[in-house]
Amino acid sequence: MPKQYFFQAGTFQDLSYAELVSVFEIYGLNKDVIHKFTDDIFLIKSKEISEDLLMNIFNRLGGFIRLGYVIDNLDTFLEKFTEQKSRVVFGLSVLGRRDRGDIAFLKKLGNELKRGFKEYNISSRFLFPRGKDLELNAAQIVNNAVLKKGFELCILRNQEEEIYSSTLLVQDIEGYIKRDTQRPHSDIDMGVLPPKLARIMINLCSLKEGTIWDPFCGSGTVPMESALLGYNFLASDIDENAIYYTEENVKWLNEQGDLGNIVYEAFRLDISQPDRVVIKKLKNTNISGIVCEPYMGPAQKNVISEEKADGLLNDVKSLYKNLFEMLDEEIGVRGVKMVLIIPSYKTYSGWKTFGIREIVSNRWEVLNSYYSPSRDLKWSRKNSIITRNIFILHRT
Ligand SMILES: C[S@@+](CC[C@H](N)C(=O)[O-])C[C@H]1O[C@@H](n2cnc3c(N)ncnc32)[C@H](O)[C@@H]1O
Repeated sequence: MPKQYFFQAGTFQDLSYAELVSVFEIYGLNKDVIHKFTDDIFLIKSKEISEDLLMNIFNRLGGFIRLGYVIDNLDTFLEKFTEQKSRVVFGLSVLGRRDRGDIAFLKKLGNELKRGFKEYNISSRFLFPRGKDLELNAAQIVNNAVLKKGFELCILRNQEEEIYSSTLLVQDIEGYIKRDTQRPHSDIDMGVLPPKLARIMINLCSLKEGTIWDPFCGSGTVPMESALLGYNFLASDIDENAIYYTEENVKWLNEQGDLGNIVYEAFRLDISQPDRVVIKKLKNTNISGIVCEPYMGPAQKNVISEEKADGLLNDVKSLYKNLFEMLDEEIGVRGVKMVLIIPSYKTYSGWKTFGIREIVSNRWEVLNSYYSPSRDLKWSRKNSIITRNIFILHRT
C-alpha cells in the first residue's frame, strides 16, 4: 500500500482546500487524490506522488498548518527512536474530532512512551499542548526542534476512525509574522492583506510561472508573496507612497534571503483614469495572473448602517468596473487567471455585499465551484465586521 500523507488546513478550510487543489494543478496532479478526512484534514493516497514533492507543495501553501504521513505500525515507528543517541523530544496532538477524555489520554500515552524510552536507557522529553488545546502549536514544534530531535505523533480522528501519523513539516508562522509586522512599511489606514491570504490568493491562480499584477498594491503584500514564490510581478497603485512602500518592502525581503532572479516593476496607475502610456506598456506585457484587494474604505470597528455599507460597496464596485473595463477594452487581456476580493460588511440589518456578476461580464468564467464544493471562499476573523469573499476568475 502506498504511504498516505495528510495536510492539515488552517482556520479557513474551504479556502485551504481550494488552494491545495490549485497547487496540485500546478504540479499536474489530479484533485481526486485529495480525500477529505475531516473538514480540516485531507489525506493524499497516491503511488505517484513523492514525499519530496509533497514537501515542496506544503512549503508554498499559505493555508496549511501541518504535513505528515500516516504510520502503518506504531511499534516499528517508535523503534527507530530507541536507537537514537541523544535525548528524544516528542509531542502528542489530537487533530480532528475531539473526545472528552483526550487531555488525560494524551498525558497517559506520553508517560507510557517516556517509560518505554527509559527501558532502552534513552532520556526523553514530552511536550504537551498548551492550556486546553489538544495540538501543539507550530512555535512549540519549531522552538523545541521536535521534528529534528524526535517526533510529533498526531492522532487523526473523524467520526469513524482514528489514525496515527507523524508530522513532517509545520507552517513557517514566524516568517509570516515577520513579513506582516517587521517589514519597513505598512499602511494600516489603507488596509493590509494578511501575507497568508495573499499567498493563498496567488496560489489560487494555479500558475507554473509568469507575471502577477496587483493593480491596488498598497504596501506590497501580494508582490512580496509573489516574489517569494518565484513569480515576476507588476505592482501599481494610485498612491505614490504605495509604490515607494512596495519597492522598499521588496528590497527588505531580498535582504532577508535570496529572492532569486525575479523581474519586477512598481508604477503609479489610477484605475479610474488610466494613463495611456501605462496602458500601452501593460498591453505589451505578458500578464499571467492578477491578484488584488481594492480599497475597501477606512477600517471599521463597529457594525455600520446599511447606507454606509451601500456607499462603501458602491465605491468598491465602481473601482472594479473601471478595472474590468480597462482589462477587457483597453489592455485586452486573454487567458489570464484573476483572484480578487469582494467585501461583505456587517450592518444592523445583516451582512451586505454584491455579486461577482455585477462587475464582470460573461467573458470571465467564475471558477469557485471547481476549486471548492462549497463555492463560498471566505476569509473572516471572529467578531470582525468585514468578510473578504474570494473569487477565482479566468478570462477565456
Ligand atoms: C486595501 S489597499 C491594498 C492593500 C494591499 N493589498 C496591501 O496588502 O498592502 C487598496 C489600495 O488601493 C489603492 N487605490 C484606491 N483607489 C485606486 C485607484 N483608483 N487606482 C489605483 N489604486 C487605487 C489605494 O491607494 C490602496 O493602496
